[in-house]
Amino acid sequence: MKIKNSIAFVTGTNRGIGQAIVTALAGSGAKKVYAGMRDIDAFKRGSANYLQGLKGNVELVPIDITNQDHINSAVQKAGDVNLLINNAGIANYSGLIAADDLDSARQEMEVNYFATLAMIRAFAPVLKNNGGGAIVNILSVASLVNFPLLGSYSASKAALYSLTQGVRAELTSQGTSVIGVFPGPIETDMAKDIHMEKGSPAEIAKGTLAAIEKNEEDVFIDEMAIQLRKDFFSDPKSVERQCGEMLPLAAG
Ligand SMILES: NC(=O)c1ccc[n+]([C@@H]2O[C@H](COP(=O)([O-])OP(=O)(O)OC[C@H]3O[C@@H](n4cnc5c(N)ncnc54)[C@H](OP(=O)(O)O)[C@@H]3O)[C@@H](O)[C@H]2O)c1
Repeated sequence: MKIKNSIAFVTGTNRGIGQAIVTALAGSGAKKVYAGMRDIDAFKRGSANYLQGLKGNVELVPIDITNQDHINSAVQKAGDVNLLINNAGIANYSGLIAADDLDSARQEMEVNYFATLAMIRAFAPVLKNNGGGAIVNILSVASLVNFPLLGSYSASKAALYSLTQGVRAELTSQGTSVIGVFPGPIETDMAKDIHMEKGSPAEIAKGTLAAIEKNEEDVFIDEMAIQLRKDFFSDPKSVERQCGEMLPLAAG
């Protein structure tokens, strides 16, 4: 689908990749962008200059994606959407065994998997009414292979990858394209403690918009992600062993 004149809803837009996607959409002729975020007031206080500099028609929408009432209100407000970008996510950097309990793993599953599924279920009829449109899920290279440094996060992103394939099949008949983006480490708050070369949020935003235009289903944009895809599909066990060396901090 074309970005020009599209009407998008993006989650987790007060910082990081989500903010870069809103900027890119607004600068690429989207007719309207609903920018979902948990704390609009804090964002307005801290980002007045950013908001003034934004091109296009951007409306801030309060939404915690784990709250079904918030999702329902968002659907009421944004009934004209034909592009849903599920970007909001969390990474607690906990290992599967090294973590003290299951709370952290459950929370990652709650946000990255269940809440994203709830968004898709709520917006699927809206997309259908508006001609099909597209859904983009921001996955991760950790959807393909487990990084024990973020073991439970990786599991939640693998679940989201499977969900992406499943809803793609279920929504084909209503003409909705479903796109998965698999970033490597990107320069945002989420990856601030990862000390390796990182891609930029703007690069991910630009690549995501290009993939929507081309209706590309599995999208690898930054250098690390492109390399990992190549290595993974030629020798998955070797990639698993290599990633397995990045152990969670608590395990030493
Ligand atoms: N950075 C990376 O290296 C990397 C790599 C691969 C994939 N990703 C994925 O890219 C996406 C964006 O991450 P980022 O790197 O931009 O991280 P980030 O800077 O930590 O931003 C995460 C965003 O998600 C929002 N969020 C978290 N829980 C939420 C909830 N329950 N409801 C609504 N919004 C919620 C945050 O809002 P608050 O400010 O309110 O917390 C924030 O806007 C995530 O899905 C992440 O898994 C990131």
